[in-house]
Amino acid sequence: MKVLIVYDSVFGNTEKVARAMGAALEEPAEVAVKHVGDVTSDDLTGVSALIVGSPTRKFTATPAIKAWIKGLPPGSLEGVHVAAFDTRIEVTDDTPGILRFFVKLFGYAAEPMAAKLVKKGGTQGLEPAGFIVEGTEGPMGEGELKRAAAWAARMPI
Ligand SMILES: Cc1cc2nc3c(=O)[nH]c(=O)nc-3n(C[C@H](O)[C@H](O)[C@H](O)COP(=O)(O)O)c2cc1C
Repeated sequence: MKVLIVYDSVFGNTEKVARAMGAALEEPAEVAVKHVGDVTSDDLTGVSALIVGSPTRKFTATPAIKAWIKGLPPGSLEGVHVAAFDTRIEVTDDTPGILRFFVKLFGYAAEPMAAKLVKKGGTQGLEPAGFIVEGTEGPMGEGELKRAAAWAARMPI
């Protein structure tokens, strides 16, 4: 069983989440955790599960993650369980109303990423998930790395 976790990360938080997920899946799978810029087509060979993660930036995934998913050949994820996650800021009562409105309207990165992975032939393995960073640059919210590991551990591999 081979699992590939592909991430992008500007301040390092999404990378930390991806690595926590990798550690959770290490037994019994063979896991590779790779920055989106380092993934080659060989990395996808024989993969039974693919998890893709991105920071939410302007309500969507980073250009690099979007381009990578777009560049996957049609049908290339047939037989692969796929899941997507993002990191995001928490919307609270203190969040300015206009930002709350846009978040409601445009959402986060994970759901459209997951839909695109399914469009490439993948089978959704887990519901899309978002993990909270404190402020813009982090660190991760309390307990979020643990929650991320528990989410990934449910991935069918
Ligand atoms: C330019 C910019 C746009 C952002 N847009 C959003 C957004 O639309 N929604 C959100 O929840 N967080 C947003 N954030 C916060 C990021 O999600 C946060 O910086 C990111 O999760 C940190 O992950 P990283 O350390 O892996 O880059 C934004 C941050 C920046 C710098």
